[in-house]
Amino acid sequence: MKQGIWQEFDGYNDIVREIEATRKYRENIIPDKYLTKPFIERLHPPKMDLRITEVIEESSTTKTFRLVSDDHYLPPFLAGQYITLYLTIGNIRTGRPYSISSSPNQTGYYDITVRRVENGLVSNHLLDEVTTGDVIETSGPSGNFYHNPLVHEKTMVCIAGGSGITPFMSMIREIAESGLDRTVFLFYGNKNQEDVIFHDELVRLSLTHANITYTPVIEEPLEDYDGTCGFITGAVVSEISGDHAGKTYFLCGPRGLYDFCLPELEKLGVPQRKTRREMYGPPLGITDYPGWPAKIKAEDRFTVSVKGKRSFQAKAGESLLTALENNGILVPSLCRSGECSMCRVKILSGSVYQPAGTMVRKSDRKHGYVHSCVSFPLEDLEVLV
Ligand code: FES
Repeated sequence: MKQGIWQEFDGYNDIVREIEATRKYRENIIPDKYLTKPFIERLHPPKMDLRITEVIEESSTTKTFRLVSDDHYLPPFLAGQYITLYLTIGNIRTGRPYSISSSPNQTGYYDITVRRVENGLVSNHLLDEVTTGDVIETSGPSGNFYHNPLVHEKTMVCIAGGSGITPFMSMIREIAESGLDRTVFLFYGNKNQEDVIFHDELVRLSLTHANITYTPVIEEPLEDYDGTCGFITGAVVSEISGDHAGKTYFLCGPRGLYDFCLPELEKLGVPQRKTRREMYGPPLGITDYPGWPAKIKAEDRFTVSVKGKRSFQAKAGESLLTALENNGILVPSLCRSGECSMCRVKILSGSVYQPAGTMVRKSDRKHGYVHSCVSFPLEDLEVLV
């Protein structure tokens, strides 16, 4: 590419690398008029069949699954994005998004890292039943949780909890491999030392790269532990990463992490526009959310009638999407976090609870559409799927 003033532009090198990566997959990045659709589908396939070639035990509760394509092509992705795995478990067809933990430089495979969730239908199935050689249907890479050099600062403060480390692994691996001009302060919270995933690699990367700082924070450490203990407080963050000037904050983990860390960042004066949070799956413990009607319990059941199909009983504490899937009614889904709009259904009668901040298009709201992955029945419903 021609040299010039553009090289001064923040993010120039990232964009050049992206163009080079795209060229690697297609000889000509300007698609022929009649080839636009296949070109787009090659880059953004709605579905793929990927084979598991390796299963890596990360800890007693966590495994990494390495996925490859039999035709040796995987669409490029941005570090921090996810793929959704579609599985049939018993007679339930469902999907779950998993962040890709491998680096985008590894063009031959995607790694996803799965931790066991108590009573987790999909995580338990993956960890107990799925093995090398199995083929899994997936979506193409998706999601908005990535570093955008045009918008975000070069210094990233990354706050992870539990399996929320996975998008950051992809980002950090890429920064280290590609020598990106980016600085990372990673704070990684876990209950116990044995829960920490990727610890050895993170220690090695932080020792060999001056722009990567790694701070594990352990809530209940063993007696002889001499690292940082407790929670990822504002004091811990500011002591290690300094003040918030020139930094963008990225958070990924369970709800408790956001509930605790976002106010801590606020106390440090971090403006909201400088924080990015990964949606990280459907809301859990929905009855504790602000605005949930106290008289309705999670186990309460309501009748859901699907127009032109059938009726079934659904629990108030279970998302409408899960209830539909459990009753054999297929609804397309991707993020399961209220972000992508794939799971829209129309509420013909009755009402649902949607957590504050749920992003629904204005026109959808006007015409009664909701994201079924983050909607919970509060009374009998009639829905159109
Ligand atoms: S699956 Fe993305 S909004 Fe529901």
